[in-house]
Amino acid sequence: MTDDHTRISPTAHVTAWTWHRMGMPHAELFATRGGWLGFWSFRLLLEWWPRLLTSAPTLAACLAYRHRLIEAAALGHTPDLLIEIAGGLSRRGVTFAVDHGIRTVEIDLPHMVSAKAGILERSPLKERLDLHRLEAIDVLCDGFEDQLRAVLGSSERPVVVMEGLLGYFTMDQRAQLLGSLARALAGRDALVLADVYTADRRARMGLATTMLRFAIRGVTRGQGTQGSWADQETMEAAWTAAGFGSVTSVLPMSFDAAQRPRMTAEEAPLLVVQARP
Ligand SMILES: C[S@@+](CC[C@H](N)C(=O)[O-])C[C@H]1O[C@@H](n2cnc3c(N)ncnc32)[C@H](O)[C@@H]1O
Repeated sequence: MTDDHTRISPTAHVTAWTWHRMGMPHAELFATRGGWLGFWSFRLLLEWWPRLLTSAPTLAACLAYRHRLIEAAALGHTPDLLIEIAGGLSRRGVTFAVDHGIRTVEIDLPHMVSAKAGILERSPLKERLDLHRLEAIDVLCDGFEDQLRAVLGSSERPVVVMEGLLGYFTMDQRAQLLGSLARALAGRDALVLADVYTADRRARMGLATTMLRFAIRGVTRGQGTQGSWADQETMEAAWTAAGFGSVTSVLPMSFDAAQRPRMTAEEAPLLVVQARP
């Protein structure tokens, strides 16, 4: 199988449409017809009937869980810079820059950066994006660590978000990326946030997981997810080995009701990791 990560971009349309459906700020800018179609095709063709057999959470509930938790934890850190790696069609960068006055850099592959730049160019927020920047960088390229240092500049309290990304990378690619992050962030009061699926948690979803993987393989033309860490302990060990000093999970109960997702940590098939260098 080829390792063409541009193919995972269609899933970004589905998540963007889900955030619009959740009523997240500025999500309407990135809600596409393809996202609507992907969301409802999955729900009507593949999602409803496995739920007759199991009580697995819906895709929308899982996406809401990770998106709300990452948002609350990122804001809670009171960052001076938000770096959203593989931002796709996320509305978070624009929200942090325009609504919260936080300098934001979104990093993605060139085709996604130009698609997003086009959307922002046509948007009513166009004149209010002085704190927002898009950068076309392949985070798996050799020079990424130095490119990230350049993006960080003199930031003292950066937050780096990777939402919906690590699962598409092999274990070696994850180790490479996490190592680059840990080294570039060393010495700063930095926080890295990412969603992570572990095999033991995924197993709780049973048939629903199989359907989701099947759908992702379909829309990404074979570039499916690349396996999971076995459990939380193995995942934390991998992040520590990459150079992070502290690796824990974000828990919904740390936030007030307006910020937290409806699903509890026990019900969730994924974890939101928070790591510090
Ligand atoms: C599945 S989407 C997730 C987008 C968004 N964060 C979300 O939650 O919907 C994955 C994104 O990762 C980007 N991506 C994949 N490989 C990448 C790489 N090596 N460097 C930078 N971005 C990458 C894709 O272009 C795409 O926008």
